Amino acid sequence: SLFPPSPGEPVLEPDPEILQKLFGFVQDGLWLGQLLHHPVEARFNLTRLLQKHLAILALSGAGKSYLVSVLIEELLERRLKPAVIVIDPHGEYVSFSQDPNYAGKTRVWRIEDIKLKLNPILKKAEMLFDLTPSQARVLEKLVQKELTPSELLQLIEEWEGRQETKDALLGMAERLIRLGIFGLRDQPEIREIAREGQLSVIDLSGTIDWFKKQLVVEHFASKLFSARREGLIPPFLLVIEEAHQFVPEGTKRKEALAKGILQTIAREGRKFSASLCLVSQRPKRLDTTILSQCNTNIILRITNPYDIKHIAESAEGITSDVQEQIAGLPVGHALVIGEAVNQPVFIKVRKRKSRESEKGRTLEESLREWEERKRQKVEDAKAFM
Ligand SMILES: Nc1ncnc2c1ncn2[C@@H]1O[C@H](COP(=O)(O)OP(=O)(O)OP(=O)(O)O)[C@@H](O)[C@H]1O
Ligand SMILES: [Mg+2]
Repeated sequence: SLFPPSPGEPVLEPDPEILQKLFGFVQDGLWLGQLLHHPVEARFNLTRLLQKHLAILALSGAGKSYLVSVLIEELLERRLKPAVIVIDPHGEYVSFSQDPNYAGKTRVWRIEDIKLKLNPILKKAEMLFDLTPSQARVLEKLVQKELTPSELLQLIEEWEGRQETKDALLGMAERLIRLGIFGLRDQPEIREIAREGQLSVIDLSGTIDWFKKQLVVEHFASKLFSARREGLIPPFLLVIEEAHQFVPEGTKRKEALAKGILQTIAREGRKFSASLCLVSQRPKRLDTTILSQCNTNIILRITNPYDIKHIAESAEGITSDVQEQIAGLPVGHALVIGEAVNQPVFIKVRKRKSRESEKGRTLEESLREWEERKRQKVEDAKAFM
């Protein structure tokens, strides 16, 4: 009989080719790492990994952003390249533009460089700024052309009508001015953002205002999806870091501005080769519907049982045995489940080639650098005296 083996029976290493077939790895796939315990490169079929969306989930510090960087490297090096757009709340991916090997393929837009047209927002003002229906009607009448927030403010000031209505609209206009993101034209244009083989980093680290970040994400996600549907831009991958902030479970629509369009892309993007990669350290707070649309999950270390349970609810193959293993994964080790593989597989994420962000530094590294700078200053001072 084949099983169980008898003592003394020879132990054979499985043939790498058989392992590749077993898990569904392919020669020309995206090289994200190595099969754990075997000398087999984990190369994932592009379509299977991304077309039906990818979720990367793990505790803070487990290696999500590192893995995303490896994925980006792979995408930028292919012959047929999608456009890659990263929503980067912490400005971590800016490091690609500082690496000589990637700078030519990377463009960064800081939130300070981004301008959005005001009028589309005014159409949603009733919901966003809690206007009454009659206040919204007044606003609609006042707005007859593209406006800046200050022009809008002036219009409202000149309007002769009920003081209460006027005050509400003035309050809204002042809020819009303070956001400091509106202009007469959208900037940059979507064609600049979505280019074949280009990494576009939308660096949102310049603001702490989540409403503003959501405005930007809603804007770009909508533009990307409609331009893609019209065939104006190449197939793209939109990476959303801190996805639970943009696609939270529950919460009101005005507190999750971008959720609707991201759900739409999750539902319909496949048909148009518009893919999402959601990255989150708080899976439990991530919308369940969108999570279940992510047909591949890459899970690094997670210890919170509620988070694991939440993922297990939307993905198949996470047995209690696997749940235990997830809690014990070291940094950079990951479980891949779903569409991209024939069966769940543990991998070790490969070393990245691109320069690592200084923002990914550990506290110890930062302390060392601080110490070094201090020493340098003392030496400089001594040299001076
Ligand atoms: N595969 C890996 N090989 C080597 N080092 C890694 C690997 N993955 C992560 N690291 C290191 O671990 C640290 C944390 O990684 P990373 O920034 O990717 O975590 P994260 O999951 O994105 O955390 P957060 O949720 O806080 O954003 C980094 O300093 C990184 O260098
Ligand atoms: Mg990260």
